[in-house]
Amino acid sequence: MATMISIALLVLVSSLCVGGEEALVSRIAFGSCANQTSPQPIWDAIVSFSPDVFIWVGDNIYGDMRRPFKMFGNERTIGPWKNVPRFVPSSEDEMRSKYETAKSNPGYSRLRRIAKVIGTWDDHDYGLNDAGKEFHAKDTNQKLMLDFLDEPHDSPRRKQAGVYASYTFGPEGRQIKVILLDTRYHRDPLRSDGTILGNAQWTWLRKELNGPPSAITIIVSSIQVVSNLSACTGPLFYMESWGRFPTERRRLFSLISNSKRDGVFFISGDVHFGEITRYDCGTGYPLYDITSSGLTQAVEKVVPSFLHNVLRFLAWVTPTTMRVINNNCKHKSCTYGQPNFGVIEVNWDANPVTLRFEVRGVSGEAVNSVTTSLPELGASKKSEPIINKKEYCSLEVDLPWLLRHRLAILFSFSVAAVIVLQVGVLYMVISLVVKCLRKCKLD
Ligand SMILES: *[C@@H]1O[C@H](CO)[C@@H](O)[C@H](O)[C@H]1NC(C)=O
Ligand SMILES: *[C@@H]1O[C@H](CO)[C@@H](O)[C@H](O)[C@H]1NC(C)=O
Repeated sequence: MATMISIALLVLVSSLCVGGEEALVSRIAFGSCANQTSPQPIWDAIVSFSPDVFIWVGDNIYGDMRRPFKMFGNERTIGPWKNVPRFVPSSEDEMRSKYETAKSNPGYSRLRRIAKVIGTWDDHDYGLNDAGKEFHAKDTNQKLMLDFLDEPHDSPRRKQAGVYASYTFGPEGRQIKVILLDTRYHRDPLRSDGTILGNAQWTWLRKELNGPPSAITIIVSSIQVVSNLSACTGPLFYMESWGRFPTERRRLFSLISNSKRDGVFFISGDVHFGEITRYDCGTGYPLYDITSSGLTQAVEKVVPSFLHNVLRFLAWVTPTTMRVINNNCKHKSCTYGQPNFGVIEVNWDANPVTLRFEVRGVSGEAVNSVTTSLPELGASKKSEPIINKKEYCSLEVDLPWLLRHRLAILFSFSVAAVIVLQVGVLYMVISLVVKCLRKCKLD
């Protein structure tokens, strides 16, 4: 009798756990940068992967409006005579309608039926390109974003300043904690080296990291944490990243390190290409940053196809100290400039437990991947001292000057070559015309 009761109890308990947050999670997909008015065929591949959880990493819609590059006319968006901003925020009604378009996408609707969907935002769904704490519509847009994610009406997330939140999935011993950061609501201006998270979010994050352990902890940041591409693309162009706020970035790494938490890694979006990077000197083990961007927005889509190889060459020429270069990459640069999504697959039954990080293309094919294991993401099990390791440790800004500025140098030489060529052609044409005129006169 006692055994029957305990079996019945066991069945009851396990059925309670399945479906709640305690069901084992081993497949997570994530993505960013989805233009709601553009076709989104990539959902088919995401649904085929059948994730337990899907994470929005930001730019979940393009809420702001973008004017075309225009040097002349009434609305000039570039040049010293620029008279209107290139990006303008939408009204509340426009934002709501854009979210409705995104939410009613048939592919995304299918995903919502099979997976738990959670997420944070980046600038374009926050409401304005590259915006930070100064943006006036942040509270209205926070509400709209949380509606899009079906956040319960009594959720504390609706009462706080910013959309940061955390979730813990899986049974004890096999837990995955997902920490969603808000990199917008409290962010100081770019180039200020001020704060990204703001005081309240820092206090919260410290509590989250120092709280109960989990086998795996995923920190979701809309902008890249590990890579600082701007150090090698400037002064040509700059992107947003934690690297642009060096003090804040160091604070993040030391918070993770001091928490003694194992199994931490980052996922990010924003840059319109996919890559996997790692930083081996942030804590006692490699800190991976798996970047997937975007679901529709991707660098190779904005240029004609004959220029794709040029873009891949430029990506390869731009130096990097953190990107994982291995044989699993589709291209030599180990960046991927077509639409993509990210995948985290945990094999809980393997001994030791293995993790696979992938960037996948529209047909679900892996274009970039890394396999690691829980012991490799643990400080205590590290046998060799990290100090001896040079790879993935040096910052991009510490590269030799010539190497670091390779892209800008190549660009300047190309521009110079084009100018010299044009001047040469012009000279030849003029001297031919002059010769011809002289001849005509003589005749
Ligand atoms: C989104 O897609 C539409 C339709 O293809 C296009 O007109 C619009 O410019 C795109 N928006 C962005 C931000 O790329
Ligand atoms: C990232 O690059 C920018 C631009 O060169 C630089 O100002 C910043 O200090 C770099 N950050 C880190 C962490 O190296």
